[in-house]
Amino acid sequence: MSKFLSTLQQDISEPHLASLVCAILDITAVIAERVSHGALGDTLGATTQENVQGEVQKNLDVIANDLLVSTLLSHSAVRAIASEEEQHTVAGTAGAPYIVAFDPLDGSNNIDINAQIGTIFTILKARDDVPDASDEQFFQTGSQQVCAGYVLYGPYTTLVITTGKRVHEATLDRSAEEFILSKSPVVLPAGVRDFSANMANLFYWAPKMQQYMTSLIQPAPASERFNMRWQGAMVGDVHRILTRGGAFIYPSDSKDPAQPAKLRLLYEAFPMAMLVEAAGGCGYSETQPLLEMTLTSLHQRTPVFLGDKKLVEDCFKAAS
Ligand code: AHG
Ligand code: MN
Ligand code: MN
Ligand code: MN
Repeated sequence: MSKFLSTLQQDISEPHLASLVCAILDITAVIAERVSHGALGDTLGATTQENVQGEVQKNLDVIANDLLVSTLLSHSAVRAIASEEEQHTVAGTAGAPYIVAFDPLDGSNNIDINAQIGTIFTILKARDDVPDASDEQFFQTGSQQVCAGYVLYGPYTTLVITTGKRVHEATLDRSAEEFILSKSPVVLPAGVRDFSANMANLFYWAPKMQQYMTSLIQPAPASERFNMRWQGAMVGDVHRILTRGGAFIYPSDSKDPAQPAKLRLLYEAFPMAMLVEAAGGCGYSETQPLLEMTLTSLHQRTPVFLGDKKLVEDCFKAAS
């Protein structure tokens, strides 16, 4: 990945961080290759195990997780890791400078239908005031992320990454097995009337949110109409927002009182909020900016509004 990293040197000059990002990109290229075989490979279908979230793990959830875990735990810059598929923090190299959290495979329900899936990751500084293997390593504020990104395994494989200053996009060159810079900076187009939400949850949202969302789909003059797209994988939906504009909207709902929000703060909302904000958009939960939130439990969930500033702020007002 050296060619792409050399273009990033201004942002990632710290050698341990550069080496760590490089290791993540290398292993996502391996995942992309495994994904590309579809039914001819071993990545489709489900296991019989459940993860800590109570979801049945797909084969690819486990494959992607195992690849990332083994790569990161053997990397000398990684003190600890957290994953959607691991109940607790796992310790890596004692004294190492960074910790990494990831959603190894986002959009698991899309694997068997050949639709968008991806890997989401965030890198933070390791804490010296708590044990290496403790979940408290990750009990940090969103704005403390050092680097965040995702790799989208679509018709082609796209990396989107930031250290908070600018957002860069790269495309995987499969023959050379390296990412090549394809857009920099990535800037979220403002004023686009697109939204991405699971409208099947409409009647489970709070009344004010129902009102706001139905206001978006009222008959209106052509220039004021909204368009809706929903891939069912945050990685694909947020990529569309970053590329085309609009807002990604995942409010809390009353489907399961024990679990009012769906998306995970550490390895879904935090990294996506860092990317969207660095691209000129914004990210909120229903109570505050996502990047101002502090993690208090490893797999904590949160409502998520991400994208175009005006749309997201309107949504936040409707929700709060
Ligand atoms: P994961 O596959 O990593 O568990 O994440 C699934 C998430 C996210 O990608 C997506 O936005 C959301 O689940 C969709 O869920 P629903 O179809 O239940 O709305
Ligand atoms: Mn899952
Ligand atoms: Mn996910
Ligand atoms: Mn996942």
